[in-house]
Amino acid sequence: MGRREKNIVGLDLGSTKVCTLIAAVHENSNRGEVESDFEPIGLGLAESKGLKRGAVVSIEAAAESIKKSISEAESMAGCEVEMVYVGLAGPHIRSFNSRGVTSIPTRSREINGEDVRRVIETARAIALSPDREIIHILPQEFIVDDQQGIGDPIGMFGTRLEANVHIVTSSTTAAQNVVTAVNRSGLLVGDTVLEPIAVGEAILTEDEKELGCVLVDIGGGKTNMAIYHHGAVRHTVVVPLGGEFFTNDIAVGLRTSIPEAERLKREHACALASMVESDEVFAVVGVGSRHTREVAQQVLNDIVQPRAEEIVHIVRNEIRTAGYERQAGAGVVLTGGGAMLRGLADLAEEILDLPVRIGAPAAFGESLLEKRPQLMGPEFATVTGLVLYGERRRKTHDFHENSNSGLKKLVSKFRSFL
Ligand SMILES: Nc1ncnc2c1ncn2[C@@H]1O[C@H](COP(=O)(O)OP(=O)(O)OP(=O)(O)O)[C@@H](O)[C@H]1O
Ligand SMILES: [Mg+2]
Repeated sequence: MGRREKNIVGLDLGSTKVCTLIAAVHENSNRGEVESDFEPIGLGLAESKGLKRGAVVSIEAAAESIKKSISEAESMAGCEVEMVYVGLAGPHIRSFNSRGVTSIPTRSREINGEDVRRVIETARAIALSPDREIIHILPQEFIVDDQQGIGDPIGMFGTRLEANVHIVTSSTTAAQNVVTAVNRSGLLVGDTVLEPIAVGEAILTEDEKELGCVLVDIGGGKTNMAIYHHGAVRHTVVVPLGGEFFTNDIAVGLRTSIPEAERLKREHACALASMVESDEVFAVVGVGSRHTREVAQQVLNDIVQPRAEEIVHIVRNEIRTAGYERQAGAGVVLTGGGAMLRGLADLAEEILDLPVRIGAPAAFGESLLEKRPQLMGPEFATVTGLVLYGERRRKTHDFHENSNSGLKKLVSKFRSFL
């Protein structure tokens, strides 16, 4: 039995926070099987500057926020960070499904890794404008001759191999600006990952992915979605609407400052008016004055509920457009800081007619989370997912470097990284 240790670092460039998580990965190898467990050893948080809804608007300001977040995590962990896994999301992301097909040259032989690579290549041969690049090709299923729904075709016999894949593309410059901001803060980028893909790693169970579920990460400036079915990603989208919109609506509606509106949202707001049939009245500080006014709960509800309904209706339209209304048996998993808005899960359940749960990172054992309870919050789902993705990515690389055999294992375990 062998034991190896390594640190993996996730960097979440959110609209409201820049968050770094350093996790020590303990690898236990037992008779050829390698198991990893994660221990969070450093967490850094900095206010997000130079970033707007997933896009870098100032390299210098973004690099400063990154440096602050990283150095806080480094001093907690007592180690230096060199390389990070970074999330990508924003209006510059576009995703779609594609299909590839290849024939197996000699008649009816075993399909090998090279065939799989070739069929994926044909699926990615799509017309892409020169200012865009592919960031993920996620295999959904393979078809061997006429047999559909195959997860791992290696070793099967056939004459024709097809692959359905989900392709995620980004504007080349937007992705490059993220990498440049990270480099400017003195760090290397291990890989860039679409945020909802990372989040899926952290909060969804294998059963949910298999049965069909909709992941909705409501952040400050955007809402990321991913639909899973039969264990694969079927649809991804980034919607430029998030928690900040509630705060702005409250600030305008109640003529108060943004920090006061943020406080009211967290302490009093509810997305479903019928949940709080109270005649409660609370004090609100007016803009530029020290005087407070009294505002009824009902007035706050009337501001918040329409915005919450708007977000949930967008989610419903995305599910419909993708054609997964009847294939999301495991329901909807809400996460991100915005998911903490009181009543939002209940409202979503009512409108979507699907079970809804709030998802928080489950990658760390309970005893560790007792030491770092903040990591249980849904706003840490992305950074946790980035660590998990980074670890899987590293293992795949090690695998490529160390072994030519065992491709079969590679396809079944790391389908998404082909
Ligand atoms: N208790 C709460 N009730 C309502 N909203 C909340 C609560 N706690 C946090 N939020 C909201 O969550 C949002 C921040 O969420 P999160 O940290 O996931 O965003 P982010 O990752 O920085 O941004 P994004 O993912 O959009 O780039 C803010 O708008 C904040 O107001
Ligand atoms: Mg986020």
